[in-house]
Amino acid sequence: MMTVTSMALSVSHLTPHIGTRIDSDGETLLSGRHAQEIRALLETRSVLVFPEIGFDDEQQIAFTRSLGALAYDYNGVPMVNGEQQAIFKVSLDEKVSPTARSLKNSLLWHLDGTTHDVPILASVLTARHLAPAGGETEWCSTYAAYEALPDEDKRALEGLRAVHSNLQLQRNINPELSYADFRRARGGPSKSQPLVWTHRNGRKSLVVGATAAYVEGMPHDDSLELLVRLRDWATQPQFVYRHEWKIGDMVIWDNTGTLHRALPYAPDSGRLMHRSMLAGEEPFA
Ligand SMILES: [Fe+2]
Repeated sequence: MMTVTSMALSVSHLTPHIGTRIDSDGETLLSGRHAQEIRALLETRSVLVFPEIGFDDEQQIAFTRSLGALAYDYNGVPMVNGEQQAIFKVSLDEKVSPTARSLKNSLLWHLDGTTHDVPILASVLTARHLAPAGGETEWCSTYAAYEALPDEDKRALEGLRAVHSNLQLQRNINPELSYADFRRARGGPSKSQPLVWTHRNGRKSLVVGATAAYVEGMPHDDSLELLVRLRDWATQPQFVYRHEWKIGDMVIWDNTGTLHRALPYAPDSGRLMHRSMLAGEEPFA
């Protein structure tokens, strides 16, 4: 593991393609002095880990803000007492989180915001309570996965688009929806996105995962086969970083160049993550 110390930031890469550990102190991180460097690392390394930094909500919000604009009320984050919340409590326990049921999708590889024009740029998670078993988080680099595709696949993907939908998410949770629930889910958001996202920085990433329902203009099974093949390709071990949480760990990831998922854990295990988000800055293209 190569460690490079630049002023107060000590940076170590966790795998060749994805994941970098940053050892610093809370005061230095909150000063904003390294914001540019952190943003640059976020883009090139996709996942940044701040081990046991132990931020409270206020500090987490301040840190998030130091890197860009906070995203509020994204993907149905509920209001509390009529106020938008910068911190969302991620829990599979319905007693803790009103959206616990839909979080079952968090166990499937996905990126956030595929039914929006502009997805969130990044999410920040801090670990408050851990499950005794399971609950690790995994990310894969969809930049590295695209880059490693054979040229003929890259050519074949040019111009292809997939529809991402709320209906697909609801069917992931319950493949046998009642007709009434099906109609309700179908009324939810749905959007066509390119399978390959050409970012403003010139890099390309794959846009696949559990929100993708079908590839436009393809027979049903061929469309599914392509989505499964690309998801399988993108989530190969060499593109993945798995984080085993300790209380107080904070991780930020670039939502636009990754897929993520949590590994299974018991809903009543007490596992609790506090999430804040950076508003998107770039539409899918
Ligand atoms: Fe997510």
